[in-house]
Amino acid sequence: MSDFSGKAVIVTGAGLGIGFALCKAFAQAGAWVALNDAQAELAQTAADQLNTGIGTARVSPYGCDVSDTAAVRAMIEDFAARRGRLDVVIANAGITNYGAFLDYTPEAFDRLLAVNLRGSYFTAQAGAKMMIAGGVAGRILLTSSVTGIAAYQHLSAYGITKAAIQHMARTLAVELGAYGITVNAISPGATITERTLLDDPNYEANWQAVTPTRRAGTVEDIAAAALFLASPEARQITGQNLTVDGGWTLTSPIPEDTPDLPEFSGKLR
Ligand SMILES: NC(=O)c1ccc[n+]([C@@H]2O[C@H](COP(=O)([O-])OP(=O)(O)OC[C@H]3O[C@@H](n4cnc5c(N)ncnc54)[C@H](O)[C@@H]3O)[C@@H](O)[C@H]2O)c1
Repeated sequence: MSDFSGKAVIVTGAGLGIGFALCKAFAQAGAWVALNDAQAELAQTAADQLNTGIGTARVSPYGCDVSDTAAVRAMIEDFAARRGRLDVVIANAGITNYGAFLDYTPEAFDRLLAVNLRGSYFTAQAGAKMMIAGGVAGRILLTSSVTGIAAYQHLSAYGITKAAIQHMARTLAVELGAYGITVNAISPGATITERTLLDDPNYEANWQAVTPTRRAGTVEDIAAAALFLASPEARQITGQNLTVDGGWTLTSPIPEDTPDLPEFSGKLR
């Protein structure tokens, strides 16, 4: 695993779930970490928990909503000033908003865009400006989703934002490449988190059944991908989307009672 000692890493939406695991992984790898969450108290508790776990205060909490662009800029400026640099920005905060297309409201749509798209875009922008000012060939990671690849029932608006995030990585990579800054997206598949377990207590078993690797994803799977893309070894990888889904997007679930067809079973040959 790469050593991130002395590096400054910011992760949004990190009070729990994937973002929390990202903070943990980078802090364990030696980085200074800014742990952001819209719920300020949760950010504080999560940072305290990580600092206790690693035995040193390397994680700083920041309570702000990523749809508030001024607050995001202030957070990034404060963290970079305290650490004297900014190396990695992970725009992870995103809301998953289910709803049938025919019933979906403009209010829900606007909120989704404000968090998932405006939040990611301007977090990346503020981070990139800071990296450029400090002469740092940094890393920007954006959190997309398999629902930005495969169309999924009742996730139309969410899926649109996640597909856009993959293109965000491509377009920002073109503009930031000259500074040595890489921009990539990570697309988690079904990943076991507090939220997904709350939505479906049988989440793990249900997703194991339709995933080629026969396991649901863990937050550690996503953190491993992030550590690699943020490492010096990944300097030539930019504008890409790394799907971490156990192969779910390679296929589509088939009915459970589909018979095992013998080889050469075609009747018309
Ligand atoms: N869990 C999955 O299976 C899965 C799959 C694909 C993609 N994703 C994506 O990964 C990211 C993290 O997912 P998760 O399931 O860990 O998240 P989550 O829904 O559990 O939320 C994690 C944290 O983000 C915070 N948050 C929400 N809106 C915010 C905002 N506007 N500003 C700052 N913080 C905010 C919440 O308070 C929460 O503590 C999201 O972008 C999500 O779309 C998750």
